[in-house]
Amino acid sequence: MKLLITGASGLLGISLALEAMREHEVIGTDRGKLKSAPFQVLKADLTHKGRLDSILDSVRPDWLVNCAALTNLDICEEAPDLAKILNTDLPVELAEVCAKKYIRFLHISTDAVFDGDKTDPYTEEDQPNPLGVYAQTKLDGERAVQAANSQAIIARVNFFGWSLNGKHSLGEFFVRNLSAGRSVNGFTDVIFCPMFVKHTAQLLLGMLDEGLCGLYHVVGPHAMSKYQFGVEIGHKFGLRKSLISPNSVDGSGLTAPRSHNLWLSTHKLSTDLGCEIPLFSTGLDEFYTQFQQGYPQKISSYQQP
Ligand SMILES: NC(=O)c1ccc[n+]([C@@H]2O[C@H](COP(=O)([O-])OP(=O)(O)OC[C@H]3O[C@@H](n4cnc5c(N)ncnc54)[C@H](OP(=O)(O)O)[C@@H]3O)[C@@H](O)[C@H]2O)c1
Repeated sequence: MKLLITGASGLLGISLALEAMREHEVIGTDRGKLKSAPFQVLKADLTHKGRLDSILDSVRPDWLVNCAALTNLDICEEAPDLAKILNTDLPVELAEVCAKKYIRFLHISTDAVFDGDKTDPYTEEDQPNPLGVYAQTKLDGERAVQAANSQAIIARVNFFGWSLNGKHSLGEFFVRNLSAGRSVNGFTDVIFCPMFVKHTAQLLLGMLDEGLCGLYHVVGPHAMSKYQFGVEIGHKFGLRKSLISPNSVDGSGLTAPRSHNLWLSTHKLSTDLGCEIPLFSTGLDEFYTQFQQGYPQKISSYQQP
């Protein structure tokens, strides 16, 4: 299959591209960060309407996965117009074009569409109630994609892994700061389901392979607090866990509101794929193995100096 990935310089985009190229032809789009990635890269600012249309005509992919987004929650609060363009308008444009050109479309959304008031895991049937601009624009994107392209897959994700600049994921945050002996906060009242990004990539490819469509939760099978996550990372990497202070997200000074509970059920995904969702401990082991094998340095060498 020929797979086009938007946002290929992002944490998920590059991980998906590297995973997909084992079996598929991969073309990524970025805005000029990638220099020597082992897959073909096309430079494109996707805020330029129609840019993707011309790329699709020249590439003619079988699958398009949209990993491009404005992902910084606090920047979304400061730049809501840009958040709307990237998180709502762009996905709709892609969904429409893909429907017209018979290209399978997979759009990446977020666990953050929920307000966190539920105590049980959220299912795909639960009503979202976004708390901030990022979450609202992502939910608007989901709904418009569903309306424009009934065959599209929409995946609500949450992942950790090694990114191009080494600073993107929460996992990297804990490794970087604890390695430097710096104290950090770990939120005890933000529950989420982190998944190792390589596992996210493998599941997304499995969903395309199986011809699934509709809304899916693609997160890890274990819910934990951000504090607990940091402690697990510290333990695995042999770093000082005591540098992590258990704290509340309330009053932390972050601009965007955060949901307290993003515990999402993956029952639908595991049933429809007919497989177990990889354990958090397996993902953490692989995250550490990649570190030992110099993977962070390897992917950072793919970017422009
Ligand atoms: N990280 C998580 O745990 C998490 C949690 C929930 C949902 N998600 C969702 O997962 C998806 C991928 O997230 P990520 O963490 O991999 O994001 P990321 O690392 O921030 O990457 C975002 C990508 O979008 C690209 N982009 C931004 N503006 C663009 C523009 N104007 N034109 C073209 N490309 C543009 C970025 O390019 P540049 O590199 O040039 O900026 C980058 O490649 C997003 O939909 C996000 O909402 C992520």
